[in-house]
Amino acid sequence: MHHIISIGDFDRNGIDRLLDHAGQIDRKKYDSNALGGKILAVLFFEPSTRTRLSFESAIARLGGTSLSVGSVEACSMAKGETLADTVRVVSGYADAIVIRHPKEGAARLAAEFSTVPVINAGDGAGQHPSQTLLDLYTIRQSMPIDNIDIALIGDLRYGRTAHSLASALSLYNARLHTISPKGLELPATLSEQLTEKGMEIIEHDSISDIIREVDVLYVTRIQRERFPDSASYFNVASSYRITPELLADAKKHLIVLHPLPRVDEIDPRVDSLPHARYFEQSRNGVPVRMAMLMQVMQ
Ligand code: NCD
Repeated sequence: MHHIISIGDFDRNGIDRLLDHAGQIDRKKYDSNALGGKILAVLFFEPSTRTRLSFESAIARLGGTSLSVGSVEACSMAKGETLADTVRVVSGYADAIVIRHPKEGAARLAAEFSTVPVINAGDGAGQHPSQTLLDLYTIRQSMPIDNIDIALIGDLRYGRTAHSLASALSLYNARLHTISPKGLELPATLSEQLTEKGMEIIEHDSISDIIREVDVLYVTRIQRERFPDSASYFNVASSYRITPELLADAKKHLIVLHPLPRVDEIDPRVDSLPHARYFEQSRNGVPVRMAMLMQVMQ
């Protein structure tokens, strides 16, 4: 059985093949009944717009259907049922499960109890592998991923998209530039692990220090929901912002990515610049997730 829990479940070849397949799907080269009769259970215990709807769109475009619980309040977890029992039961109703949960490690736990493949759609401050695959797909639309200089900006401590992306980029010999508010740096265990693999990680104080050097700006939201209290959030809120003035010094081919939702980290005036790719990036969620579903459900 094929679960996708962490981006580490893929090697470089596996990622490249999946992105190639997503490219074919994007060019409409796929069987729209490839997953006919299959059912995807969508178990989301945290808010979501893009991830949830793009997985639902992906299964529908392949001829399958989806089931979902409206919210934690609407399902039996609100009555005290454990995640393990919920997953045991749901895996009897579906051919695969996509799960998002506020606790790190929840998707791995779900995989232990599931009798069908599990895809992690975000586990607390842990991992978000499907987002990483669509991030890489979006980079590849503009430039080869190998040897890029990429700046990861924002909440690198709690941001699961940054964790998965940094790990994946170690397979492409990318150079990582990190810029984050104090206290929200990349977790030391992760940066040590990546450095050991030979990745170059350089911390900077401000975006303007490296804006001339980088090929990709990957901007993230401060993960307010992971903060212990609102005072500690407001200490760091609104401490960085991408503006057209900042981008005036950028390389011509630089692209700006963001997993979305954005709060105030990207000035809306950036949206109309050729650098802005975040809406295209969210659209890419559908072909990439279609390729993932075919991989685990066929
Ligand atoms: C991200 C997430 O849920 O981790 N959103 C997404 O899936 N596109 C990023 C975020 O919420 O900031």
